Amino acid sequence: MEILVVGTGAREHALVRALAADPAVTGLHAAPGNPGIGELARLHDVDPLDPAAVAALATALGVDLVIVGPEAPLVAGVADAVRAAGIAVFGPSAAAARLEGSKAFAKEVMAAAGVPTAASRTCATVEQVAAALTEFGAPHVVKEDGLAAGKGVVVTDDREAALEHARACLAKPGGSVVVEEYLDGPEVSLFVLSDGTDVVPLVPAQDFKRIFDADAGPNTGGMGAYSPLPWAPDGLVAEVVETVARPTVAEMARRGTPFAGVLYCGLALTSRGMRVVEFNARFGDPETQVVLARLRTPLAGLLQACATGELAAFGPLTWDDGAAVTVVIASAGYPTQARSGDRLTGVAQAGALPGVHVLHAGTALHDDALVSAGGRVLSVVGTGATLTEARATAYAGVDRIGLDGGQHRTDIAARAAAEASGDASTEGKDA
Ligand code: AMP
Ligand code: GLY
Repeated sequence: MEILVVGTGAREHALVRALAADPAVTGLHAAPGNPGIGELARLHDVDPLDPAAVAALATALGVDLVIVGPEAPLVAGVADAVRAAGIAVFGPSAAAARLEGSKAFAKEVMAAAGVPTAASRTCATVEQVAAALTEFGAPHVVKEDGLAAGKGVVVTDDREAALEHARACLAKPGGSVVVEEYLDGPEVSLFVLSDGTDVVPLVPAQDFKRIFDADAGPNTGGMGAYSPLPWAPDGLVAEVVETVARPTVAEMARRGTPFAGVLYCGLALTSRGMRVVEFNARFGDPETQVVLARLRTPLAGLLQACATGELAAFGPLTWDDGAAVTVVIASAGYPTQARSGDRLTGVAQAGALPGVHVLHAGTALHDDALVSAGGRVLSVVGTGATLTEARATAYAGVDRIGLDGGQHRTDIAARAAAEASGDASTEGKDA
């Protein structure tokens, strides 16, 4: 099977790495990819946001399957264009990707499907926002309706700051905002694969969204992740499949816009039960890096089954019983104003350590030297029998890598590892 992967990040590098390990894969291409992906796949300088260009590339290469990594190409209709060219594609249509592209649409689908989520109001004016803030009380949660690369959500006790964010969102053309009740409790990411009818869950992971240790500082795209979650309640995956994924996939099919691809269920385990925080229409980054590190089932056939409506016939997935931890190395200034062009050292040495692999995100080659080229630069993955081992392995890799001004968190999976190994001094379950 020949495959084209669309995207540039560590998530796409993780996908390509898993595909390269699948004996059924005979050729790998990426558009546009990055230097790490380039070690495993042929890179093509094609704009991932241009549906016609991606479809033309897939046709010219004669690939059997296209896998779309990020949300923006999906919302732009890349999957539709590839499908129209007669090529199988893993990733939802633009109409189905609205589950991520519009928070108001996602709320409407969840309401129709009876999926548990935060109560919310979709608002078109500041007066409506003010009324909703009063109705739900603090902490206030205000979300921009459209795609905002993780920057559209403000959670604050400050009513004025909540109103200010709402005003900024409403000032955009066609802008609307979603105000919702605050959800307490730890967050879990669960990816559920779908072919439009059937669903297959992967294993849960947890993401660390804030830039600094102890969840301080601003939100980022994600600074690290781990899997499994030893503290998660038994039956969580089955509950999400039955109360979230199946009803949502059925509702999308009923509307004539079947959802085929990966439904990323962002969940909060609140004191009143599990609630959906958000849906995404693609794999999460960096959670994918740890989930795929544990997947033993060959990936290409699994994603092809989603693309071709054959998930029901696909056998059960197999998983490594051990743990995986990933630590993101970000550039100086991230997430506000990321600096580029800093020299990276030690990447090969880190990747040569047992149980470590290094995935590229924002990297570039300048005169054969690897330099930073974006906010999140590398995702260092460590595996081991336990979270404690996987964590130590990942950080041993991080310690080998040099990046001037580079930032990483030192507490990824720390609490979960300590709890799982019976260290009673760390209580609580979030992050
Ligand atoms: P979203 O883009 O909807 O995933 O929101 C980004 C982050 O904001 C989430 O991962 C949560 O940490 C936080 N968040 C979103 N909605 C809520 C909510 N209703 N209550 C508390 N935190 C929230
Ligand atoms: N890890 C968060 C995201 O992919 O949206």
